[in-house]
Amino acid sequence: MRSTRLASLLASACLLGALSAHAIWPHPSKLDAGKDDAFVRLSGDLRFELAEGTDQSRVPADLTDAIEAAAKQAHSLDVWPLVSDRGESYRAGVEQAKLVASVRISVLELMTATTPNPCVPNKPMDVAVGTVVQPRSVQQPFGGRKNAVQPVDLTAEPKQTAPDNWFNPCSIASHAIRELNYNISSAKLNLETDKTAPADLGYLDAEAYRLSVPADGGSIQLTSYTALGALRGLQTLQQLIYTLPPKGDDAAAAHKFIRNVPIVVEDRPAYPYRGLLLDTARNWFDLATIRKLIDTMGFVKLNQLHWHATDTQSFPLALDDDADAQGGNGMQLSLLAERGSYGWTKVDGKNTRMVYTETDVRGIVEYAAHRGVNVIIETDMPAHMLSGVDAIDGGSLMACPNEQAWENVAAEPPSGQLRLFTNTKASPAPDAATYKVPDNINRFVSSLLRKIATLSKSAYVSSGGDEPNYKCWNLTTEAEMEPYIAPFMQLVTNLTEASGKRGMVWEEMAVKFPKVAKTLAPNSLVEIWNDANNSRVALTNNPDVNIVLAPYSYFYLDCGSASFLGNYTSNTWCPYVSWQQTYSFDPSVTIANATKAGQDAKSVRNKFVGGEHAVWTETIDPTNLEGKVWPRAAAGAEVWWTGEEVAGKKRDKVEALPRMMDLRYRLVQMGVAAEPLQPLWCATRPGQCNWHG
Ligand SMILES: *[C@@H]1O[C@H](CO)[C@@H](O)[C@H](O)[C@H]1NC(C)=O
Ligand SMILES: *[C@@H]1O[C@H](CO)[C@@H](O)[C@H](O)[C@H]1NC(C)=O
Ligand SMILES: *[C@@H]1O[C@H](CO)[C@@H](O)[C@H](O)[C@H]1NC(C)=O
Ligand SMILES: *[C@@H]1O[C@H](CO)[C@@H](O)[C@H](O)[C@H]1NC(C)=O
Ligand SMILES: *[C@@H]1O[C@H](CO)[C@@H](O)[C@H](O)[C@H]1NC(C)=O
Ligand SMILES: *[C@@H]1O[C@H](CO)[C@@H](O)[C@H](O)[C@H]1NC(C)=O
Repeated sequence: MRSTRLASLLASACLLGALSAHAIWPHPSKLDAGKDDAFVRLSGDLRFELAEGTDQSRVPADLTDAIEAAAKQAHSLDVWPLVSDRGESYRAGVEQAKLVASVRISVLELMTATTPNPCVPNKPMDVAVGTVVQPRSVQQPFGGRKNAVQPVDLTAEPKQTAPDNWFNPCSIASHAIRELNYNISSAKLNLETDKTAPADLGYLDAEAYRLSVPADGGSIQLTSYTALGALRGLQTLQQLIYTLPPKGDDAAAAHKFIRNVPIVVEDRPAYPYRGLLLDTARNWFDLATIRKLIDTMGFVKLNQLHWHATDTQSFPLALDDDADAQGGNGMQLSLLAERGSYGWTKVDGKNTRMVYTETDVRGIVEYAAHRGVNVIIETDMPAHMLSGVDAIDGGSLMACPNEQAWENVAAEPPSGQLRLFTNTKASPAPDAATYKVPDNINRFVSSLLRKIATLSKSAYVSSGGDEPNYKCWNLTTEAEMEPYIAPFMQLVTNLTEASGKRGMVWEEMAVKFPKVAKTLAPNSLVEIWNDANNSRVALTNNPDVNIVLAPYSYFYLDCGSASFLGNYTSNTWCPYVSWQQTYSFDPSVTIANATKAGQDAKSVRNKFVGGEHAVWTETIDPTNLEGKVWPRAAAGAEVWWTGEEVAGKKRDKVEALPRMMDLRYRLVQMGVAAEPLQPLWCATRPGQCNWHG
């Protein structure tokens, strides 16, 4: 009895040791690791190479770029272990450890053995098999602290990748922009033994990878079905690499190493949608800041940038005119940013208009896709619109524009909402039964949505739809809005589907108004931002939609700051969301709530594609964005990537804290201004600052 108990205590002690000693974030679905003091050392010219059997003519350029970036970072970034001696006690073990010379990457979809091969050949060849991807920094490996700065120049314009990458179905980008689903392959998959990729690979398996770091100095092996999966594995590999602390300026002593070898990671996300919303209308964000946000998202496997591009305060999308596009029925879309954007600012000393041109938008969509992040552009309507829209068609599109007593008609100043109809004493609201979307609104929405659809390759586009205000239309109840919003939403759905995309809307369109909910297309996305249990109502109103969860009390990163309103002394309407609060969110409770008697639990689970953090930016701009977002958004990344369990147990914030601190320290080394969560004393002594009250 006693010895059994002891054995199980020992076993759990080992498990704890293994857990505390790595810092992969988000935690992989399966991780086997060796002992704390088992190391391999990384060779000064560690090579990253595609495995033999790769069809060299089909390797997409964005994979080559991703491998090059990973190699560069592995060589140049110094991260000392977050322990009290910063890893000095590991020195003898690391110096005697076996030397690893290469990382071998097998992307099964690119293997000659996969027939028929789904990939389009590149011309000219991007990379030859066995070619060593040599980062420039390899000339000066392990340069110690002085070189331990962000290796990527984020202010430089990204290099343009050949456009044919989009049309190679095997590029990272092509996988990243796909429609989300829980489809699984007809073949039984096993990344340890599979030599080819199945033709009907499911979305989650496209992101799957297997990473093994042997203890004997053999190659690190990374295997995935797709280039996107390889990118996810490269991100994990970065998080395993540490540097010994410097001995003075002795660069040669700063070996790079991996501990807890042998390591085998088998990983695949729990949810396909893992997002972050950025609002570029309340305040404007320069392109370099957005690109850096995308890079950091990718590092923690967030894969959807929900770009809330426009709002009532500004319309920064500088769109080209569409005056003749539809038989003379188009709209002067260029007025939107001309009248509705914020004018000028300085970015890196250069005068810059606070707008995003069509080229800028395409550039961001492309930059993100090549890094495994899909961009969903949102032009919010019918509420949350004024700036710029009030200049179109002589101002005829707007109801209650910029009223001084905005509180009566809108959620925020300045007030404004599309004028779906006129409702005055002299001219009462049209009869709901005969109501049609007026011609000017129809022409504007058609012009705008067709244009937006051409800017993004994503399977999704969002029309927003939050907080429509009945008083702005001179109605007396919220319910009276429904017969007017339903045909409007039907029009939006028609346009979205006609452009080959799926729509995305805020919960108001699906929860408050059952008739509006019925106009949403199958597999479109409904984002729940109030009570997560509203999902049940949305799915009752329209069982064919998918749900994205972003309840504000768990996921809004702007909450808890001072209000932006003058003459208002309280803080924002919602309390601060700590990373622990996000981390405590349990989607299975929401899913259980949405499951009705007699319903198949799995089919309901599959309606929940994931969730996201939101960064509304009334009090946020590029000066404080990173501290507001990081590392807290990583908590959501683990909720949605890892799911309800970490290492076979319910997610636990006490287990997670040292990993979160390690991630935060690594982000800071990468040049991201992530907030500290603890004093350094606690961070370097995992577990010693737990509260025992
Ligand atoms: C998912 O699989 C179903 C059949 O099981 C198919 O009808 C559907 O088109 C697939 N969805 C996608 C996006 O591939
Ligand atoms: C609401 O009433 C005011 C005052 O009569 C009017 O100016 C405004 O146009 C009306 N709004 C709508 C949407 O008809
Ligand atoms: C939407 O499309 C359907 C089917 O094509 C059509 O019957 C309907 O009139 C359209 N509605 C609007 C508002 O455009
Ligand atoms: C500030 O708010 C108070 C009510 O709380 C109101 O009486 C006062 O007029 C407001 N001042 C301004 C400048 O709006
Ligand atoms: C949501 O539903 C769950 C389970 O169905 C329940 O425990 C929880 O209290 C509900 N939340 C709210 C805010 O009502
Ligand atoms: C779901 O949550 C709501 C509160 O939002 C609650 O009233 C209801 O009882 C819950 N239903 C189930 C089946 O848990």
